[in-house]
Amino acid sequence: MSSADVAVKVFRNLKNEDLRVLQVIETAMSQHEFVSKEQIARFSKLDLARDTHFRLSRLSKLGLIYRITGAYVGYTLNYSGYDCLAINALVKAGVLEAFGKSLGVGKEADVFDALNPKGERTAIKFHRLGRISFRQTRRKRDYTTQRSASWLYQSRLAAEKEFQALKLVYPHKVAVPEPISQNRHVIVMGMIDGAELAEYKEISKPEKVLKQILRNVKKAYLKAGVVHADLSEYNIILKPDMHILIIDWPQYVTREHPNAQELLTRDLKNITRFFERKHMLKVELKEALSYVTGEGRITTWSHPT
Ligand SMILES: Nc1ncnc2c1ncn2[C@@H]1O[C@H](COP(=O)(O)OP(=O)(O)OP(=O)(O)O)[C@@H](O)[C@H]1O
Ligand SMILES: [Mg+2]
Repeated sequence: MSSADVAVKVFRNLKNEDLRVLQVIETAMSQHEFVSKEQIARFSKLDLARDTHFRLSRLSKLGLIYRITGAYVGYTLNYSGYDCLAINALVKAGVLEAFGKSLGVGKEADVFDALNPKGERTAIKFHRLGRISFRQTRRKRDYTTQRSASWLYQSRLAAEKEFQALKLVYPHKVAVPEPISQNRHVIVMGMIDGAELAEYKEISKPEKVLKQILRNVKKAYLKAGVVHADLSEYNIILKPDMHILIIDWPQYVTREHPNAQELLTRDLKNITRFFERKHMLKVELKEALSYVTGEGRITTWSHPT
């Protein structure tokens, strides 16, 4: 079960006091990696001996916090706890009503199908950065070598950045999921039906698909001033109607960034190479680059044998 699976499963059963304790730990974690029971009692205004103890052991059993024992006893949020705080905020903001199935669990994100209160489908992406999972690191020293709670910060930063990118390119009609909301390390966006381009063994009109990709990279660059910077066949969704959407934007840079040209070239190299290798369609990298930057056209679409 992924951390988001845990959060989705237990969220409905959480009481206000549970959420308050999670929030107190979250806040204190900006100062300390581990937060003591006394601190938690003080800031949550719960009775120390009874209520705080009860909440902490309950949250720990639910898998939302982690307790470290030794010379110092302290608590830290784990990803599921952080997920619950974000889910709670999104429910309160009226953008999230229910979770559906998991759309993808990876190293850096968990993505879920969800519904908003109007019954419309959305996709919810939980960013996971900067921390090896708890399952892999049961030993104490693995924690102490980590900078204080930086995973919280890095994951939130990734979500903020991705949401920002979507908001920059979406109004220019770049083919991306609609940005709906963001809280902490989570973004809510329009749901897309389809599969990663990499998963298609064959596509009937590769030229059409590549043209769409290049047109969208061009729009993002020229109109929104944005370079994706992690573009590949894994971050392009091909819908059943053969239209594409470009996803996964947390690494974006603006056109003014000192490495923008280099990153744009790399993006285009990934795509042109993929089409040459997998779909027997060759476009010169130089031509693709000059098309995308508005300096020229693509003159040859060849089919190497
Ligand atoms: N808006 C969306 N609608 C439907 N499915 C989506 C959406 N966004 C992402 N997905 C699914 O989730 C997968 C992972 O999303 P994304 O590429 O944004 O994250 P990632 O950081 O690459 O995660 P990972 O580390 O799992 O590869 C996608 O390949 C896709 O299958
Ligand atoms: Mg991806």
